Amino acid sequence: MNRKRIFSGVQPTGSLHIGNWLGAIRNWVELQKSHEAFVCVVDLHAITTPHNPKELLENTLSTAALYKACGMDPDISSIFVQSHVKAHSELCWLLNCITPLNWMERMIQFKEKAIKQGDNVSIGLLDYPVLMAADILLYDTDLVPVGEDQKQHLELARDIAQQRINSRFGINEENILKVPQPLIMKEGAKIMSLCDGKVKMSKSDSNENSRISLLDSPDLIRKKIKRAKTDAEIGIEFNNINRPEADNLLGIYSIVSGLGKEKAAIECGEIGWGKFKPLLTDALISALEPIQKEYFILREDNDYLKKILENGQSKADEVANRTLKRVKKVMGFLQREI
Ligand code: TRP
Repeated sequence: MNRKRIFSGVQPTGSLHIGNWLGAIRNWVELQKSHEAFVCVVDLHAITTPHNPKELLENTLSTAALYKACGMDPDISSIFVQSHVKAHSELCWLLNCITPLNWMERMIQFKEKAIKQGDNVSIGLLDYPVLMAADILLYDTDLVPVGEDQKQHLELARDIAQQRINSRFGINEENILKVPQPLIMKEGAKIMSLCDGKVKMSKSDSNENSRISLLDSPDLIRKKIKRAKTDAEIGIEFNNINRPEADNLLGIYSIVSGLGKEKAAIECGEIGWGKFKPLLTDALISALEPIQKEYFILREDNDYLKKILENGQSKADEVANRTLKRVKKVMGFLQREI
């Protein structure tokens, strides 16, 4: 049986929030039933903006534990830490040398992040998308489940594979690297901030109240939902462009309650915010409870978590090293047989 392969990852910066879960991890959990999944904690990406070593260490462990707690199954999927698989850095270097600089300078996320960094923009930040291309291409990935905002990065990975590797170094039309497809999920693809329905929920938002972290206590969830931005209308509805907050919160509710869009829209179509918010709060608390429970058990058992990551690394190494070898060979590097 030849299952298609997916690859995805989240940066271990700050604690994961419901946007990461509903928009990304939840989809991996579904996809792993029918696809071969490689999911990684992209710690090398996390140092492209100034970072704190202690926090990186803690966030790497907590992100890995949350993948598992959210339902990624280490027996059928490979869960690993990017920096443990050395092929990522090495392929990144090879790709750096064949990727035109002007492809990088036009990346939207780079421009946005660079503005925020002022004078302190590292070469790593500019190189972020090439490392991401290396991540994806190493695994002969068929599909990359990502959010809307990562589409341009995926496009770059495709261009590098196609135009810079396959067409330059491929022999007899043979592809060296598989050209991946994006898989943009509709439902939950973009969870917005609780404080502004027009901006994405983000780990880097300085306002804690803008997001629900997966590890927030019931009390904190209650507080944050109470403070969440509303409007003066009655009835919570989807797709009213003047009511982005209603659309976002109803979207979250439709997923965490398990009702789905249609039923949630009917249930909430005529109630006011005062009735809706407690419904949303309770649904969120119950949905997060089992994740938190498993998370805390896992964090008590560091050896088990380490074992999962070691296993993931060894499965990842095997595939990644094969791809790296193929690329180095066609680029003319002297092969070393071991
Ligand atoms: N850039 C991605 C994000 O911020 C994270 C990431 C790094 C990634 N490498 C990847 C996602 C490879 C998918 C595939 O969401």
